[in-house]
Amino acid sequence: MVSRVRTIAFQGIEAVPVDVQVMVAPGKVGMQIVGLPDKAVAESRERVQAALHASGLSMPAKKVTVNLAPADLPKEGSHYDLPIALGLMAALGAVPGDQLADYVVLGELSLDGTIAAVNGALPAAIGANAEGKGLICPHASGPEAAWAGADIDILAPRSLIAIANHFRGTQVLSRPEPAVRAQTAALPDLADIKGQETAKRALEVAAAGGHNLMMVGPPGSGKSMLAQRLPSILPPLAPRELLEVSMIASIAGELAEGKLSDRRPFRAPHHSASMAAMVGGGLRVKPGEVSLAHCGVLFVDEFPEFHPAVLDSLRQPLEAGEAVIARANHRVTYPARFQLVAAMNPCRCGMAGEPGYRCARGTRCQTDYQSRISGPLLDRIDLRIEVPAVSAADLIRPARAEPSASVAGRVARARGLQRERFDRLGLPGIGVNAHCPTALVEEIAAPDAAGLSLLREASEKLGFSARAYHRVLKVARTLADLDGAGAVGRIHLAEAISYRIMGERLAQAA
Ligand SMILES: Nc1ncnc2c1ncn2[C@@H]1O[C@H](COP(=O)(O)OP(=O)(O)O)[C@@H](O)[C@H]1O
Ligand SMILES: [Mg+2]
Repeated sequence: MVSRVRTIAFQGIEAVPVDVQVMVAPGKVGMQIVGLPDKAVAESRERVQAALHASGLSMPAKKVTVNLAPADLPKEGSHYDLPIALGLMAALGAVPGDQLADYVVLGELSLDGTIAAVNGALPAAIGANAEGKGLICPHASGPEAAWAGADIDILAPRSLIAIANHFRGTQVLSRPEPAVRAQTAALPDLADIKGQETAKRALEVAAAGGHNLMMVGPPGSGKSMLAQRLPSILPPLAPRELLEVSMIASIAGELAEGKLSDRRPFRAPHHSASMAAMVGGGLRVKPGEVSLAHCGVLFVDEFPEFHPAVLDSLRQPLEAGEAVIARANHRVTYPARFQLVAAMNPCRCGMAGEPGYRCARGTRCQTDYQSRISGPLLDRIDLRIEVPAVSAADLIRPARAEPSASVAGRVARARGLQRERFDRLGLPGIGVNAHCPTALVEEIAAPDAAGLSLLREASEKLGFSARAYHRVLKVARTLADLDGAGAVGRIHLAEAISYRIMGERLAQAA
């Protein structure tokens, strides 16, 4: 006799249906799992047998075959324990198989029969809901799954015995409640930063248009401090973004206690990060930092200290908005539309360009250090600024800096204009100028006559690539949006070009 239980396999953030078929038949006593299982799935056998035993159910003295269908889909992870165990229990008559058919099941088993939390409960619940099914998941994953919808039937038992009792009607499980992360910790505020008006302006422009930003300056000038304050001026996640961000966090196992937050992610990987940590990969093809920063900020501090291959791996997600991870027999794609903020010292000793300072290694100190950033990567960074050491006069002056809240107001207004424009153009998926398709840039950011002549002059003098040309236009559009101006004028282009110039100098060093 064959019993069937529905579960899922993850492909990126999508949950693909998987059928667990359990057959108990006469033959050599033992249990076998087939259907392209990875090592964690193969180990299910031991956990399921121990958990059933601990729950007072003995394995039948027969041959048990578990098939995970479709067989050509790779099955990774430990969440197959629970569907396999429930399939076996249904075959033994301990739970009603027909009621199980209404659910998608996932969960890991401990040897004592309790059900341990697994990653990905949220995308699993969303997948189940789309098929009109309920979800059986671990107790600890319940609050996360409950976010998938108010009408979806979710059972979040603590143990195999609890789920058996629920179906028997002796101890009915209640639906878990979705949990919200309390926003107690206030974000660091721009008001803490004295002086650095140029840098703050660039930060505001970056926030308004979703542009990538690079800051170059001596140690201690406040680059890290500035970057950490970017989230405080960004608008909260829109509902659709919130879901995507949470699904990625769910798969990565980074949703603390299943609580969701509408704050934009801010990821700051260390410069020792590997390629797998950055773009994703590893044993279970986990999302990398670029995906965990989806809809938020990826802060790459000490930019040139990262491994050059790791830095170059950022190019593809920067361009495509998704990270593609190739495996031996399949590819996994995670969304990765992030805003890059990079910070670096001008040279290895950090002081190049400071008045009265000379590097021990002369100009090579600076050129060698800056050439670690490849030209094509630099080309994708629209705003490049120098952050000079903060002057003593600025530091001593009593703080009167503008708080984040008022900057955030201007950013929100500029973003509102952009959203309206993209909606009008029939592109509701695009929220900010930085993501505008190249074909549309010249339409939305057409400069006036004075602007055009400035742009022509600058592109000739500076030798802009086609990409650079379009990126300058996008930044100019954002500057006009911050001004509330309809057309892109000369003043907007002048500022946009100034943000580009420093990078052209760096590129020449490279
Ligand atoms: N503009 C500033 N206003 C107030 N404090 C500052 C400023 N710039 C730097 N600091 C102080 O210097 C410290 C180092 O700044 P940090 O952002 O780490 O510098 P960087 O990343 O450029 O090396 C900060 O923690 C802060 O105390
Ligand atoms: Mg720093």
